Parts: sequence; C-alpha cells; structure tokens
Amino acid sequence: MATMESLIGLVNRIQRACTVLGDHGGEGSLWEALPSVAVVGGQSSGKSSVLESVVGRDFLPRGSGIVTRRPLVLQLHKTDAGTEYAEFLHAPRKKFSDFAAVRKEIQDETDRITGKSKQISNVPIHLSIYSPNVVNLTLIDLPGLTKVAVEDQPESIVQDIENMVQSYVEKPNCIILAISPANQDIATSDAIKLGREVDPAGERTFGVLTKLDLMDKGTNALDVLEGRSYRLQHPWVGIVNRSQADINKNVDMIAARRKEQEYFATSPDYGHLAHKMGSEYLAKLLSQHLESVIRSRIPSIIALINKTISELDAELDRLGRPIGVDSGAQLYTILEMCRAFDRIFKEHLD
Ligand code: GDP
Ligand code: NA
Ligand code: MG
Repeated sequence: MATMESLIGLVNRIQRACTVLGDHGGEGSLWEALPSVAVVGGQSSGKSSVLESVVGRDFLPRGSGIVTRRPLVLQLHKTDAGTEYAEFLHAPRKKFSDFAAVRKEIQDETDRITGKSKQISNVPIHLSIYSPNVVNLTLIDLPGLTKVAVEDQPESIVQDIENMVQSYVEKPNCIILAISPANQDIATSDAIKLGREVDPAGERTFGVLTKLDLMDKGTNALDVLEGRSYRLQHPWVGIVNRSQADINKNVDMIAARRKEQEYFATSPDYGHLAHKMGSEYLAKLLSQHLESVIRSRIPSIIALINKTISELDAELDRLGRPIGVDSGAQLYTILEMCRAFDRIFKEHLD
C-alpha cells in the first residue's frame, strides 16, 4: 500500500491526459467524472493568497484587473525535505526552482492562448509543485467573479467568467472552496451566492473566511465560523493571509503561516477554535476530504475509463493501424495510460 501512487496523484494524471485529449469537462466526459477542488470567490476576496499559503510559496501572478484568465490546475506533491520545484504540463522536463519564474510562466502561458486581448479561456494550465511544505492535494484556481469589466477588457468578460466558474461548480463531483472576506457582509459574498445555487444543502462547499484581521475593532466573525450565519455541512475555516503591506515587504510565506497560527492561538475571540483555523489546517482538511471522495468514486471512474478505452480503440480503428501519424500515436499513448489507470484503480479497490 505504501508504495502505491496516491489516489489524488493518480486522478491528476488522468486530468492531464484529458487536457492533452482536449477534454475540458463536457457532458459525460472523463474529466467531468473526476473529483476536484475548485477555488471560487469575488475579486480580491483572497483566493490567490489562500492558494499561496497552502503551497507555502509566492508564485501566482498578481495585479489589478482580471489576472487569472485560464483555469490553473495546481497539483501539490509532498516530498522529503530538500527538493522544492515546479513543473508545467506544457513544458515537461523543465524544472523551475525559482518561483518568480513560475509566476512569469503562468502569465506567459495565459497570454499564449488568450493573446494580450485579456479574454479568458477554458483551456487549463497544469502546474505541479513538489515540496516538503505541502500536502498531496489538487486545487483548481478560477478567475475571480467580478461585476464590471475593467481597462480594455471586453464587456462580455463578466458573463464569460460566471459561465466558466459555473461550469466547474455545477458538477456534482466538484468540491467548492468558497472564499469570502470577513470584512464584508457574508450575505453579499459572491462565493456563497454561487454555492447556495449549486449546492443548497452545503454538502460539497467548504467555506473559507479570509481577512479576519481586517474586521472592525469590537466585532468578530464567530457567527460565520460557528455556522450560524450560513450553515454548511463542513466546518468553516478562518484565515489570516499576508496583508498588502506584508507582500510589499516580501514577508516569507512560511513566516506568514506561523504568524497566522499565532494570531489564532492568542486571539480572545477565536482561541477556542485555533486548532481548526488557518491555511495549514485547511490544506489537511481538503486533502483528506478529496482522498475520501475519490475513493468513493473509484467504481464510476473505472467505468468511464473503460468507456474512454473503447472510444479510443474505435478512433484508432478509424485511423487505421498501425499508426504513424502524430495524433494516432498520441491516442495510443493515452489508451495505454487509461489501461494502466484501470489496473491501478482496481488495486486501490482491493
Ligand atoms: P484574489 O483577487 O481573490 O486572488 O485576492 P488576493 O489574494 O490577491 O488578495 C487581495 C488583497 O487582499 C491583497 O492585497 C492581499 O494582501 C489582501 N489580503 C488577502 N487576504 C488577506 C487577509 O487575510 N488579511 C489581510 N490583511 N489582507 C489580505
Ligand atoms: Na466575495
Ligand atoms: Mg487572484
């Protein structure tokens, strides 16, 4: 069991194969059947900050306007101490150990597909991070929900983003990481509004409350964190990310995590919840949940993999074997991969 690839890692490998195949989650597709965690929230709610804190690294593009314009499938692999690097699906064999270069590559790869037009695209970027500071987890970062187009962005972008986010969260296999800032009324949270629409029972929504440190003095968020304001089946997690001033001062992410822990441990309001707050706790909670959801879906994933195998077989027959052409060779590789997944998943079932 110990040598077996983690279920989360295995599912991510299938997701990457789907992207190569051009499957971004259509009706009945394999991608659609795979459990995933999607990060949603309004602009500036703290999505990027939460992701960076979960990773323990500073690597996401930032700025004003709509920065995330393609889904980013972020796979975290826990490694032994020492090694820490990133890899993109679109640039295999290139290991990034400089995380500023990772940020630049995300920007460049976004522009490669969308042009400088500031449009959005539903073709995901796949990024893997290998680090001793992470848990095994895959998260999908999506564009922030917004009310108005800015600068030279087309008017339609507001609706395009909503449609894209909707296409992820409406899937029953999607675990929704709903980010809301504590310094705004929870009733107006974009993330919660969306969660309420697609998951009214709150069964697959994890509520995350950021910016606890920015609340007005004399107020606290206990009504939200203790589930009285908006009830979810999973417990709410409160977060204190780096402030803009911290970012400007280059406060290290690991130091920021420590500061966050301290904030909760010494808080008169949240001290009793300290062990269930913060980004490290959130990462562990999500990792365990994702693993258990994948485990429960193995039979249906196997069924879909087998359907994909038959479709690929038929496609290869149509192309005529033996195949010399590139597309045929690629299909063949993916077919072999599907067969391997089928085998490995069955081992996990035993
Ligand atoms: P996104 O647009 O949802 O990705 O939001 P960002 O993560 O980029 O955060 C927007 C701004 O809010 C940045 O200046 C962050 O430093 C700041 N911010 C995010 N979370 C917190 C927090 O918990 N506390 C404080 N003080 N600032 C935060
Ligand atoms: Na919001
Ligand atoms: Mg962001």
